[in-house]
Amino acid sequence: MNEQQRKQANQIKQVDPSDIKSAPEENLERLKNMDSDEMIDKYFQTTYEPPNLKKAKKRLKKDVDIHYDFSISKELQQIGKGKKFLIRTYGCQMNEHDTEIMAGILSDMGYETTDDTNEADVILLNTCAIRENAENKVFGEIGHLKPLKLEKPDLIIGVCGCMSQEESVVNRILKKHPFIDLIFGTHNIHRLPALIEEAMFGKEMVVEVWSKEGDIIENLPKVRKGKIKGWVNIMYGCDKFCTYCIVPYTRGKERSRLPEDIIQEVRQLAAAGYKEITLLGQNVNAYGKDLEFQYGLGDLMDEISKIDIPRIRFTTSHPRDFDDRLIEVLAKGGNLLDHIHLPVQSGSSEVLRVMARRYTRESYLELVKKIRTAMPNATLTTDIIVGFPNETDEQFEETMTLMEEVGFESAYTFIYSPREGTPAARWEDNIPMEVKKERLQRLNALVNKQSAEAMKKYQGQTVKVLVEGESKKDPEVLSGYTERNKLVNFRGPKSIIGEIVEVKITNTKTWTLDGELVHEAAEVK
Ligand code: 5AD
Ligand code: SF4
Repeated sequence: MNEQQRKQANQIKQVDPSDIKSAPEENLERLKNMDSDEMIDKYFQTTYEPPNLKKAKKRLKKDVDIHYDFSISKELQQIGKGKKFLIRTYGCQMNEHDTEIMAGILSDMGYETTDDTNEADVILLNTCAIRENAENKVFGEIGHLKPLKLEKPDLIIGVCGCMSQEESVVNRILKKHPFIDLIFGTHNIHRLPALIEEAMFGKEMVVEVWSKEGDIIENLPKVRKGKIKGWVNIMYGCDKFCTYCIVPYTRGKERSRLPEDIIQEVRQLAAAGYKEITLLGQNVNAYGKDLEFQYGLGDLMDEISKIDIPRIRFTTSHPRDFDDRLIEVLAKGGNLLDHIHLPVQSGSSEVLRVMARRYTRESYLELVKKIRTAMPNATLTTDIIVGFPNETDEQFEETMTLMEEVGFESAYTFIYSPREGTPAARWEDNIPMEVKKERLQRLNALVNKQSAEAMKKYQGQTVKVLVEGESKKDPEVLSGYTERNKLVNFRGPKSIIGEIVEVKITNTKTWTLDGELVHEAAEVK
């Protein structure tokens, strides 16, 4: 780590100089008796910065570095020999993919994976901060892990991911859960080997959360969850600063990986036999804006479409940056799938304005029209928030009519949840919970209806399914997704797992399709 990074870092703070490993009960008792504010002041008066809109908006492009020199020292490669790790993942695909990276790092340190908390020597909670209920789940899990830690003092419990970027969360853990060994942020994943070592041999809680723009660290090891579908980060962070959203603070500045690094990773996945890749970013449509040369998501997708891999998806899109070049490239089809997840958040231009989404209902509909003209069969799905501060009944009705007008085939729907540090959190959360719930219920009923209708159109049709494995409900049944992301269940030999096959749809439900295998190998492209 260079000097500048060191300055930007919020460095390790010691919680208690006593040996938590050898006498956990005693130490927990001591920590309990210590005045918690005093403890935080004493050990946490740091360079730590809470989410700060003004400062975050001033961050500069030149603050981002790309590193290609990740390595794990010989000693640390042995440290996990004979030991096991477990990572619990909350939140989005970005987090799922970060878990794959942490699994890669831990494996390179000699650790093996386990699903059993009782067997684990390292447990990491890779957390999500997007809504309060996501955070509550994590605090519940932390509570469950306490007896295990008391029983097994050498167990290392770590909290990482988006929640650990929040000052209030770090403080709460320091105050209420001092048995946690390690807290590290989304910008500190590559520091895992050193952090584990410190947690193992040091005597105090290790907290390392860099509150910075974030760098790009290439060449990190990965243990991918499967061999059929793979995620590839194309960019990190978000600069959109929607007024409700914590992500620009937890994930840092928008920064794009270089096209050649992305293309190389996709090629490697293709060579390893992967059938589908999803290009990942919090706002993939802003890809390339920070590069020194003119290059956007459309250009990248165009190049990636030439790689011999059957399916390419991307997520998540922001309507504001969805440009004509991308539509033109997607319209070529081939391995670029025409399922577009295009979060709208609200159907009311006024609500969109206060959300700082930077588009209106009308301009969103205009974009949808363009997409539909270029790709008549495209499937559109979305995200919607209900109960945003001051949202009137009429404004909510506009969301309902937009849902129908666009014909979204499914939607993730959420009740607004104030996030500390965001502008909206300073406004009164003035829609009563019963009203929010009622709006959500009505919206969900409409989403279900539209999904069921979209599914009905598949009755009798033959679709291409990438077979992922046995269905969750019945091991005799196989399941997989169509090009437009519909889950299909059907019977067939296990030998076709990982293949793209043709299935005739015999029955449609609200969220899934049932079918019969027609051909064991579908022609791709
Ligand atoms: N409250 C409720 N939903 C939110 N989302 C983001 N922030 C919040 C919040 N504070 C939703 C948005 C986003 C999705 C990932 O989560 O719909 O698209
Ligand atoms: Fe949750 Fe957003 Fe972080 Fe993903 S990026 S884990 S959705 S807070």
